[in-house]
Amino acid sequence: MFSNKKSFWMEILKEGLANFYAEIGIPSRKLPVFYNPDMNLNRDVCVAIINLVKPKSVCCALAGTGIRALRILKETNTKKVIINDMKKEAYELIKKNLGLNNLNADVYNEDCNELLKRLKKLGCVIIDPFGSPLPFVEAAIKALNADGLLAISATDLGPLVGRYPKKCEKKYSANPLNNEFSKELGLRILIRKIQEIGLNNKKNFLPIYSFYYQHFFSAYFKTTKKNVKKDWGFVLYCPKCLNRKISKTKTGEKCACGNNFVQGGPMWLGSLWDKKLSQKISIIKYVKEENEVKAIGFFDLHQISRTYKKDIPKISEAISKLKEKGFQASRTHFSPTSIRTNANIKDFLD
Ligand SMILES: C[S@@+](CC[C@H](N)C(=O)[O-])C[C@H]1O[C@@H](n2cnc3c(N)ncnc32)[C@H](O)[C@@H]1O
Ligand SMILES: [Zn+2]
Repeated sequence: MFSNKKSFWMEILKEGLANFYAEIGIPSRKLPVFYNPDMNLNRDVCVAIINLVKPKSVCCALAGTGIRALRILKETNTKKVIINDMKKEAYELIKKNLGLNNLNADVYNEDCNELLKRLKKLGCVIIDPFGSPLPFVEAAIKALNADGLLAISATDLGPLVGRYPKKCEKKYSANPLNNEFSKELGLRILIRKIQEIGLNNKKNFLPIYSFYYQHFFSAYFKTTKKNVKKDWGFVLYCPKCLNRKISKTKTGEKCACGNNFVQGGPMWLGSLWDKKLSQKISIIKYVKEENEVKAIGFFDLHQISRTYKKDIPKISEAISKLKEKGFQASRTHFSPTSIRTNANIKDFLD
């Protein structure tokens, strides 16, 4: 269909209220300036959070085309926006895109960490890199003001969700689990690691809104006076009967069925969402409901069916049944076939 070998081309696109030039093609690091249309949901959430938290200044430290920054300028009341990308092509495109929208911002063409070292008292720093955010988190934390908003994304899901446990151990100092709720555990492992970097810099960071979507995690943090370390711990999981428990420490405890538990963590065991934000942001479906259920992890109906050789009920019916029995239960944004509930596996089987 296409005669030349170039696998991308420049177009003017629109996302939210911003128009922008971007190279369209298969989103990959090979694009001269990276742009992934599938991340628009991540940017929608970012704009919504900035509108609710209202930081005075925002730094998009790894900006690509600058689309997120353009949207922040167009769709929020942020007074000062700083945009940076190390790649010359990105820097030029960011300036072109600002011009296209008649907008002004401070634009830099530097290594993220070098730039952040010079910037102080920022209201919000956004770290949206290729892969893991960890190389940039300390510089971001140091550049934030006392009650700053830290926004991070991670696309290195392989280690975090248990496909490469050794890599997770090395990078995130935690053991991941490869089970039906490994995505939630991976997000919690990522959060704890960010908090650890915060604590090394004498700051406690509380996650106020975090989620999984397609191929990435996203988490937003505010500083808190609470000691976040108190909510770190482990999840014990029995692959034989699907029972799970939390524990503040590593333990040699066995499951009631006699099988050994596998242990994931250390990870953040506190809430993934601030109540007000979870109620006000409806972009990520089911977060509002699942935040009402006090439970870590969830039950996958297909997994229960495989393990116990039972027919799969309709998810809505399974939720109603649990609620009739007096349990909290809701769908979860992590998985379309799963239920977050404070019931245990036995309650599902009755
Ligand atoms: C995932 S893309 C950013 C996408 C963008 N935030 C968006 O929402 O469309 C990551 C960007 O980081 C830039 N980058 C990578 N390493 C960097 C560094 N050390 N300092 C600054 N920019 C860097 C890359 O050139 C790339 O444009
Ligand atoms: Zn068991």
